[in-house]
Amino acid sequence: DATDKGEFRHYMMKEIYEQPKVISACLEGRISETKVLTSCFGADSGFLKEVENIHIVACGTSYHAGMVAKYWIEDLAGIPCSVEVASEYRYRKVAVPKKTLFLTLSQSGETADTLAALRMAKEQGYLTTLAICNVPSSTLVRESALTLLTNAGPEIGVASTKAFTTQLTALLITSVAIAVENGLSAEKEKELVQAMRSLPAYVNDALLQDAHIKAVADRFANKNNALFLGRGTMFPIALEGSLKLKEISYIHAEAYPAGELKHGPLALVDEDMPIIALVPHNDMLDKLKSNLQEVAARGGELYVFADKDTDLHNEENIIFTEVPKVDSILEPIVHTIPLQLLSYHVAVVKGTDVDQPRNLAKSVTVE
Ligand code: G6P
Repeated sequence: DATDKGEFRHYMMKEIYEQPKVISACLEGRISETKVLTSCFGADSGFLKEVENIHIVACGTSYHAGMVAKYWIEDLAGIPCSVEVASEYRYRKVAVPKKTLFLTLSQSGETADTLAALRMAKEQGYLTTLAICNVPSSTLVRESALTLLTNAGPEIGVASTKAFTTQLTALLITSVAIAVENGLSAEKEKELVQAMRSLPAYVNDALLQDAHIKAVADRFANKNNALFLGRGTMFPIALEGSLKLKEISYIHAEAYPAGELKHGPLALVDEDMPIIALVPHNDMLDKLKSNLQEVAARGGELYVFADKDTDLHNEENIIFTEVPKVDSILEPIVHTIPLQLLSYHVAVVKGTDVDQPRNLAKSVTVE
């Protein structure tokens, strides 16, 4: 029952722990052993073949999910994809190339700016409109031509957790479905689908670090600022991690693509500025490690989240948290979990109202 916190002190923690289950629910009926089942887009799945461009529009955490999808879509399908916050999109003249899919992301399906963007888009000659949404009866679902539900169940904590990871799961399904129509081999599709099938188990493994992260949070909670770094798909996850920390612990946090360090944020680094580094295990690993050396050389305290084969570990000034080693396509989803736990535990130490942070609303239905 969504309104029952069960064994948990806060809805947010309950919802963090529901993620293996709801990610399974999001995958259910959408993939076979080897393939993405395009029937999940309904009878009008023909757009998958036709689409030549994608515009993603969303707000808040949902916008960060869209930023990850841009990397996936351009990488796997080779189709241009742009991502924009709805409050900007709705007030400018947008150039719409032919055969462009308009894709909205929303937990609630009631965010005023996202709805206004959809209504505007419907006048712009898009190929079609697809909503990835968590609430079947929402306005966004009713007004979009196509829907892929995230199936996360009601989310009560204002800071979004399970809605985000299921949005990413639904976006991965969508990205692969479009990629298949754009030359992705059956072998690669099978590899990706098999990775998706193991996602709930990996998310469960990531949750096993909870006690360790709680100890890390005790050390972190007296900070006033934090800088999150990531590269590739980990950059939007850094943004999401910094948003979560701001929302519920009121610690000022920023996120940067690690390669931009030298272009400004390095000036902020000293012993009072903790750096949270999300380390991918792919060809960006060595570049990220050299970014971390730049930080360490300036006395910064590093909170590193990486799998154990990255050869990173606890050292003076490095507080290491192990993240399960996974196929790189899954890394942004699995790396989200420890950051949710970190924000949660920091907020609990600080004694803030975790489920109802000051000044924020679960759904922003007025402009
Ligand atoms: C509010 C919520 C966020 C959410 C954003 C977009 O700011 O507090 O958690 O990400 O709205 O909401 P939506 O329902 O459209 O995903």
